[in-house]
Formats: sequence, C-alpha cells, structure tokens
Amino acid sequence: MREGKITVEAIKGMKGRRRLASLTAYDYPMARLLDEAGIPLLLVGDSLGMVVLGYPDTTHVTMAEIEHHVRAVARANPKAMIAADLPFHSYVTPQCAVANAQRLMDAGADAVKAEGGREILPQIMAIKEAGIPFIGHLGMLPQHILEEGKYRIKGKDEEGRAKLIDDAIALHEADVFAVVLELVTPPVAKEMTEKFPFVTIGIGSGTDCDGQILVTHDLIGMFPWFTPRFVKPTRQCGVEIRSAVETWKAEVERVG
Ligand code: KIV
Repeated sequence: MREGKITVEAIKGMKGRRRLASLTAYDYPMARLLDEAGIPLLLVGDSLGMVVLGYPDTTHVTMAEIEHHVRAVARANPKAMIAADLPFHSYVTPQCAVANAQRLMDAGADAVKAEGGREILPQIMAIKEAGIPFIGHLGMLPQHILEEGKYRIKGKDEEGRAKLIDDAIALHEADVFAVVLELVTPPVAKEMTEKFPFVTIGIGSGTDCDGQILVTHDLIGMFPWFTPRFVKPTRQCGVEIRSAVETWKAEVERVG
C-alpha cells in the first residue's frame, strides 16, 4: 500500500474535526491531479455515464464500464481512498452484491458505494461481512430515475424526513463509515450529521454535512451543456478547451 494512503479510519476520524472535500474521478490524469490537490476521497461514480459516456442517466452504466474506469483511476496510485459505485441492477441480491463489489475491489477500489437504505440492508451486510468497506447513499437516488421520473429533493415533509432517518438507522446498524446525502433538505441533512456517527458527505444538501462531494466535471465546467443548480463552477474548462482548439485550428488554416 502507498505510504500515507487514506484509510477508512482516517475518513472516520475526520468527523467533527475536519471537513471532507471529495470529488469524482474517472480516469488516470484526473485522479493524479485531484490527488496532488489533496482530495482524500475519489469516487468513480456512475455519473460517468452522463459526463463521460454520454448516456441520458446512470441506469445505462454497466459493471464492465465502472471496472474499466476504476482500473484507470487505480493506475494513478493515489493516496486518496478510491470508492467505486455499484451500478444499476448490480446489487439486487446479497450474492451478486458481494460478487460485484469484489470485482470493483479487484479492479483497484478501496471501498464501494450503493444507493439505498433499509431495502438494501441484506446486501450491505453481505458486502461488509466480505470485508469490503461500504459507503451509503441516501436522499435523491439517481438510479431510481426511471421509477421517479424526476430528480427531486428529499425530506421536505415529515414522512420524507422519517423515511430518511429510518434508512440512516439501517446504515448505522450495518456500521457503514460514510454516507452520501444527495439533495436532502439542509435541516434533515444537519439532523442526520448530528445524530449518526458515520461521516455525512453532502451534495446539494446544504453546508451542515461533515463533508461535500461534487461531480468534478460540474465543478470545473467540463460538461458545459448542463450544470446542477446547486453547483457554482470555479472554472470553465469546456470553454477553455473550445477556445484553445479554435486558436490552433485558425493557426493551421492561416499557415496552410
Ligand atoms: O455518481 C456519482 O458521481 C455520485 C455522486 C453524485 C455522489 O454518486
């Protein structure tokens, strides 16, 4: 293992002490750059389906595609922990959840993430029993887009809040070390952060989580055709690339 490698214990130890800044990485150069910038947790998220592979949503992403990108990120040999998403339909039973989680670990992941709470508790327990570190994902679950039809904020009423808290209790029972909270109302995200020992990693869920995660392409303007409302891009890399290419093309054409 690389010296200084970020472990589960190191991430757990950040709760209440230091905010966790996490980003997605899908390939070797981005993993190296983010690691050099000191990001402690890199997620090979199934968001790669949209921002890298051009799918309309994450339900099209396959195990083979995630594995391919985990291998690329792992070749960067980052200090950062590499977490990998279990894609849609890859964890419908405890047996296939463990087999697919193991495939991602064999590809170079240090932990896996899957969407859901109590309804996938047997799968999470099986993954944990296999010795594989697990990150939960509650709130708006992008892999449910086909059933739900829209990406909606969760926890807006008492029923929604109670469901989130119950799912968080299930994840706590499974002793997961971190949970992504996606599009959870800020008061409920705060409540979960205060109530549970796992590290909460918010995305579009307000500032009161233990950490934040973003899709790197959203943060740096690398997918300029769509930016979620809660993201303020710090750069416009897509615009920069287009402009650099236009300059070079004009130069080639002028000389020719
Ligand atoms: O796939 C992904 O990038 C994610 C983040 C949005 C948390 O799950």
